[in-house]
Amino acid sequence: MEHEIDATLAAALKAFESAQTKSDLEQARIHYLGQQGKIPLLLKQLRDVPAERRPAVGKRLNEAKAAASSAFQARGRSLEDAGTKGKTTFFDVTLPGVRRPLGRRHPISQTIQDIKRVFAGLGFEVVSGPEVETEHYNFDALNIPPDHPSRDSFDTFFLDDGSLLRSQTSTVQVRVMEKRQPPLRVIAPGRVYRPDSVDATHHYMFHQVEGLAVDERTTFADMKYVLETAIRELFGRERRMRLVPSFFPFTEPSAEVYMSCPFCTAGCNVCSGSGWLEIAGCGMVDPNVFEAVGYPRDRYTGFAFGAGIDRIAMLRYGIRDIRLFTENDQDFLHQL
Ligand code: DAH
Repeated sequence: MEHEIDATLAAALKAFESAQTKSDLEQARIHYLGQQGKIPLLLKQLRDVPAERRPAVGKRLNEAKAAASSAFQARGRSLEDAGTKGKTTFFDVTLPGVRRPLGRRHPISQTIQDIKRVFAGLGFEVVSGPEVETEHYNFDALNIPPDHPSRDSFDTFFLDDGSLLRSQTSTVQVRVMEKRQPPLRVIAPGRVYRPDSVDATHHYMFHQVEGLAVDERTTFADMKYVLETAIRELFGRERRMRLVPSFFPFTEPSAEVYMSCPFCTAGCNVCSGSGWLEIAGCGMVDPNVFEAVGYPRDRYTGFAFGAGIDRIAMLRYGIRDIRLFTENDQDFLHQL
């Protein structure tokens, strides 16, 4: 009897372990552990075992049954694991790929990038300066006297310690000239701040690009060439430029830069019917500015210009509202 028990158990273990499918395993269970199975059959035969040996044989038989049951269960679990594992690692090469949403450069950054490229081609290097400035850089050194209207606190954000948020990138002209000697050809794109009420064309934070060229014989004609070339590179070969006399404290003479309207030939609502759009301010560096940075008054000449980057971006992309630049509207940003 003991021999038979051991042989049955060994056969049962082997059958369970080698079962490759759930139905193989179920067949084996019925064969060894089912009601008419081999192990229950042996249990029935226990009656015929002589009484004195019955406890020992019974114990062995119970152990065999327990071992067989646990082998059956273990195999059941491992078939289950293999089943789910198979499902998750199955890779359908015919499915469409997972699309990751791609970001893109902000239209202001795209415009800054293009401006840098154009001016690099004209020999200008890119410099920058701080957004938190002092009155010295934003006003005094730029020949803006203390009683000038743009000093009014309504036009500039002042901080508690007397410093301010720069209201123009012209500050960088001063910072560069203080540190370096001519020849200089630099542009400085960056953020500026003014306490304007926000509407379609005004914001309390916007972007400007400043330009400065200083050498021993830099002329107004050089400035005109540089500005005209930049406008044509940025807005198309057909653009024309005109300079209109103006005033800025840090340049003399000064001019406003107009370009022919890219949207019409005979006047439209973007150019208010004039056919021309104001796009920058410019002029020859005032000798007072040279003096403020420690250059000799008469040795150098130079030109400077400043343009609004937001406005350039709006004109290039046909954007009607400056607020769109700061609203993070994905539908807007993904069009550009
Ligand atoms: N800083 C001026 C502004 O914010 C723009 C400007 C005009 C800059 C003339 C210049 C310049 O360098 O020469 O309105």
